[in-house]
Amino acid sequence: MENPGSTPVGFDVNDSIDINESLVPVRDPKPASQSSISFDGLLSSPLLLQEDLKEGCGGQLWPAGMVLSKYLLRQHHSKFLNKTIVELGAGGGLVGLAVARRCHPELPRICITDQPPMLPLMETNIKLNGLSSAVEASVLNWGEPLPDCIPKHPAIILAADCVYFEPAFPLLISTLNDLLGPESVCYFCFKRRRRADLRFMKQAKKMFEVDEIKDDPDMEIYRRENIFLYAIRSKSDRGCV
Ligand SMILES: C[S@@+](CC[C@H](N)C(=O)[O-])C[C@H]1O[C@@H](n2cnc3c(N)ncnc32)[C@H](O)[C@@H]1O
Repeated sequence: MENPGSTPVGFDVNDSIDINESLVPVRDPKPASQSSISFDGLLSSPLLLQEDLKEGCGGQLWPAGMVLSKYLLRQHHSKFLNKTIVELGAGGGLVGLAVARRCHPELPRICITDQPPMLPLMETNIKLNGLSSAVEASVLNWGEPLPDCIPKHPAIILAADCVYFEPAFPLLISTLNDLLGPESVCYFCFKRRRRADLRFMKQAKKMFEVDEIKDDPDMEIYRRENIFLYAIRSKSDRGCV
């Protein structure tokens, strides 16, 4: 799924204009490259990430992915130990790989997922970081039945920058509904680019318990960038953030 109107890391956006995506030209794809990311020193051994846009928009770094990774590395790594983790719309796998790098070997395998075209890039990045024993890449198309390889009701679900294409909103809601068990929590980070993005959160709030996460020291900076972090749970569970 391509998203010509979205904003990768390092680009600016005019949030006050509600642009119809079909009217926005596809920008020239940037060439494939490799980044080394320590998340401001939170990882002692930096993550290597191959970026390649040829198979879709997930092939590069996105702002909410960076924010969610930093939040998780700062605040929550101790809570991950021995938990099942599934990442949705992982792109190149930034968030799941960052958590795996920090917590390996004290985790069961993390499952990073996306659509079929992103599978080779996720696998490349797993190998690049020597994390084949800790992370598995799988196809998970939102709105479709969960494949057998995805843990049922994982303890932790990760989703960064997955709100950007309105036709996919009900599909993402449906997959969250399938995945969220009574003990699950989804750490959900998105950058609001268009008014339509708020419709996703409105629907999510009807379906799930949605708590904005406010205990990150950089939260005010993120808010100025229209980046928001939430903990999403099934309605029956009211655990603490
Ligand atoms: C903007 S990218 C974010 C990538 C990554 N999470 C990050 O923060 O860097 C959105 C990702 O969602 C994936 N995606 C979009 N629609 C999807 C669908 N229907 N099912 C599964 N993944 C989807 C895209 O392939 C893409 O990798």
